[in-house]
Amino acid sequence: MEFLDLKTQQKRIRKPLEKRLNTILDHGAYIMGPEVHELEEKLAEYCGVKHAISCSSGTDALLIPLMAWGIGPGDAVFTTPFTYVATAEVIALLGATPVFVDVYDSTFNIDCEKLEIAIQETIKNGELKPKAIIPVDLFGVPARYRLIESIAKKYNLKVIEDGAQSFGASIGEKKVGTFGDIAATSFYPAKPLGCYGDGGAMFTNDDNLAEQCKAIRIHGTSSDKYNSEVIGLNGRLDSMQAAVLLEKLTIFDEELEMRNKVNDYYRQFLNNAQYIPNNYHSAHALFSITLGSHKKREELVEKLKKNNIPNVIYYKYPIHLMKGFHYLGYKNGDFPISENLSQTIVSLPMHPYLSEIEIDSIINTIKK
Ligand SMILES: Cc1ncc(COP(=O)(O)O)c(C=O)c1O
Repeated sequence: MEFLDLKTQQKRIRKPLEKRLNTILDHGAYIMGPEVHELEEKLAEYCGVKHAISCSSGTDALLIPLMAWGIGPGDAVFTTPFTYVATAEVIALLGATPVFVDVYDSTFNIDCEKLEIAIQETIKNGELKPKAIIPVDLFGVPARYRLIESIAKKYNLKVIEDGAQSFGASIGEKKVGTFGDIAATSFYPAKPLGCYGDGGAMFTNDDNLAEQCKAIRIHGTSSDKYNSEVIGLNGRLDSMQAAVLLEKLTIFDEELEMRNKVNDYYRQFLNNAQYIPNNYHSAHALFSITLGSHKKREELVEKLKKNNIPNVIYYKYPIHLMKGFHYLGYKNGDFPISENLSQTIVSLPMHPYLSEIEIDSIINTIKK
């Protein structure tokens, strides 16, 4: 059994992909070639946004908009400690301060009441200037954007949706990529839409922001590639990765539906999975359950291991307790929901090709 089965998927797309890769070998435009432009058009159309801007990773897709807004020392950017480290890392990298906000114990996404309290406390404290919010769509479930956007408006903050795990998800008819001022996604191979290397994209309806992000992604250049207008970085996507994504896009909706079925089947037997609110459609990047205690989680992990059922702990350490973030001065007990989740959560196999027989054997092992 695979935690994530990329081989079955590859068999489906291999022939047309080889054709596309051969075309690239012939035309030789390896970076930002025609496949990249074709991909950007298709991604924008898929999400229903004006601009899809590809880049070299999900991390850069978060970093570039922060750079465009000039976020730096003295600025506060609000996010959660229960996410992949990249979400907070990009804030710290620019010399700004990540201000953590705990998550809901149901969806594992940012708690909007606590978000507003954190913003008010930061204003009152006066040391940092609140600038932006990075809500994370954990495991594929979108955060509460209606509320987040109204809080952002009230306090004049920017919003970057961290949709690294949620490309393809939606709230009602509104797809991930359309929330906030800009959204970021990752095409890391394990993501619902992944390439065969690193890749990412930004999505926005803001023409001016799109132009800025496009320039920053190529060393701050626009018309003349040897004359930098703003400080940028090497954040380009290469043509081969775009080719992989173009082929995977052709089966993406079908795969999403298959992930949905896997999710529904799991939930017939389990009542301790991540909560998906009404009218929210997850991309099901991961399927996670919580156990009543750390001891129970460890016992389950041991049992799964003995029965050769792959599983992973996302996330073993909340970011505020990671060594690299000690300088922020947080301590154990500051974010009890995130801390408890890191002790009690486990992710089970999730991919479009997981069979009911395989899920039955996972459930039997859990219930044993
Ligand atoms: C929530 C979240 N944010 C950001 C990233 C960073 O994406 P990448 O690995 O493509 O840089 C990831 C990827 O693992 C992620 O899961």
